Amino acid sequence: MTFSFQSRIGLGTWQMGEVARSEAEEIKAIEAAIQMGYRLIDTAEMYASGNAESLIGKALKIAGHSKRDQLQIVSKVLPSNASTKGTVAACEASIKRMSCDYIDCYLLHWQGSYSYEATIEGFLKLHERGLIRSYGISNFDTLDLQKWIAAENRIGAHERTVCNQVYYALNARGIEYDLIPLMQKQTMQLMAYSPLGTGDLVNHPDLKLIANTLGITPAQLALAWILRQPNAIAIPKSVNVKRLEENLVASHIQLDLKTLESLDKIFLPPTQKSPLMVI
Ligand SMILES: NC(=O)c1ccc[n+]([C@@H]2O[C@H](COP(=O)([O-])OP(=O)(O)OC[C@H]3O[C@@H](n4cnc5c(N)ncnc54)[C@H](OP(=O)(O)O)[C@@H]3O)[C@@H](O)[C@H]2O)c1
Repeated sequence: MTFSFQSRIGLGTWQMGEVARSEAEEIKAIEAAIQMGYRLIDTAEMYASGNAESLIGKALKIAGHSKRDQLQIVSKVLPSNASTKGTVAACEASIKRMSCDYIDCYLLHWQGSYSYEATIEGFLKLHERGLIRSYGISNFDTLDLQKWIAAENRIGAHERTVCNQVYYALNARGIEYDLIPLMQKQTMQLMAYSPLGTGDLVNHPDLKLIANTLGITPAQLALAWILRQPNAIAIPKSVNVKRLEENLVASHIQLDLKTLESLDKIFLPPTQKSPLMVI
């Protein structure tokens, strides 16, 4: 598969589009993100029942259609829609809401009752029609990932999963134990959701202290820590222009060994298998 992600920091859009009076501010934030250099946006048909995608469509219209090709858009099909036909229909509806012609990477949001084969067939049909450039999964732990790969093998899928989007942050390190190693073996990218621990990490007193000594912010520290993993992308959400800039800069910050060791003492790496954390 020739698809690859161009950026290591993307914009999350969960909880956007939920309240009518905040919409103008949220559209402005998405547009500002595009203008300041974000090249990856994460969304889902689930977010605000499709309205987060509609806001992306509106922001793209303001930013100018020429920006579309510089952007990579990730969206997700709900498990309840993930039959072959349902996957195709859900993707068409997402594309329509975003007026964006195609989705760069289309994910199964989490596993439901449809067979993996059925969903993969849907992804392959969408790929053949040029409606998606690649596909992936979300909230898949090791065993599920192995079953998913086996399903791809069974149907001889000519396109393969490019990423698994999972909760990964300083306060959620469980996947380092066996999921990240498996994904690395599969050359599958890790898309870290809730990389700021849904916002909790920015107020962590120890993180503040370390960030201060480095002359960066706690958010930048939390994001740069994720990006120490060579195959990782982080997708923090913000509707605040200053924070959007702050988060984007984190892709240029490299943490030294001493800082990583200090963080390991506060947020312990896993020593055994734990259930996948999901939000
Ligand atoms: N696949 C899945 O099942 C799944 C699950 C959860 C999330 N996601 C994706 O991952 C994205 C990010 O996760 P998330 O939204 O849960 O949490 P997050 O990105 O870890 O944290 C977002 C929170 O942090 C605040 N924030 C952002 N940047 C900040 C900064 N520099 N300083 C201080 N506060 C900051 C935001 O507030 P402001 O907006 O006010 O700045 C918001 O309250 C989602 O938007 C969604 O796209 C996927």
